[in-house]
Amino acid sequence: MDDWIDYYDSTHTIYASKRHRDLHFQLIARDIIGYIGSPDAVVLDYACGEALSAAKVADACGLLYLAEPAPGVRGRLIARFAPNTKIRVRSLEDVRKMPEQSIDLVVMNSVIQYMTPDEFEGALTTIRRLLKPSGRLVIGDVLRPEVGMPRDVIALLRFAAAYGFLRDALVGLVSTALSDYRQLRSRVGLQRYSEADMVARLTANGFTGSRVAVNIGHNPWRMTFVARPSLAT
Ligand SMILES: C[S@@+](CC[C@H](N)C(=O)[O-])C[C@H]1O[C@@H](n2cnc3c(N)ncnc32)[C@H](O)[C@@H]1O
Repeated sequence: MDDWIDYYDSTHTIYASKRHRDLHFQLIARDIIGYIGSPDAVVLDYACGEALSAAKVADACGLLYLAEPAPGVRGRLIARFAPNTKIRVRSLEDVRKMPEQSIDLVVMNSVIQYMTPDEFEGALTTIRRLLKPSGRLVIGDVLRPEVGMPRDVIALLRFAAAYGFLRDALVGLVSTALSDYRQLRSRVGLQRYSEADMVARLTANGFTGSRVAVNIGHNPWRMTFVARPSLAT
């Protein structure tokens, strides 16, 4: 296993159980829907993962692009959403070729920690080109330099306790600790950005953005940023 894309393409244990996975994607879909400004909006979910609740997001917008780099995950997305005329599945390569100013909302949730800073910058360049002048970019679940893994564990256990999968979560934590995730986390690592660094990177890439009060998903120690194309660029 070389990188995080391979990891997400494998039969990983990041979700402790089916219930955890289903609840995770329901929560993400609800939060994405909260950012959709109009029922006609064209939405791009950048590195969407399994996107199990994408049909709900598609119901709330005009067209939903699900972009995913892991080929196996992408294959499942194509099979799962083939009957849904409002969903299109794309690779990140396909995304780079999409027409400029064609998207109203881009969401990158729980993605940039897995990218190198250069990959993140490349993604910002692509997204800046794709967004309509009135469009928005939402980057969620950003890890801060000062918050370590124990907070991830506490956030997961609280989520699990609130939704009745605490036992699964405890078993899942042990399997994750013994798995490729742990090895990759120490070998490849996860990228972390401070709030000021994120704002500066957004500005340097043609956006005006800031942190919002509430993170997407279940982890309150991670951050979400909302950005718009800057007028000057
Ligand atoms: C934790 S999942 C997030 C999936 C979904 N956005 C969500 O909120 O559940 C991380 C995603 O990042 C993708 N990923 C991993 N490394 C990446 C990279 N270097 N560039 C782009 N995407 C990457 C994975 O394929 C996976 O879909």
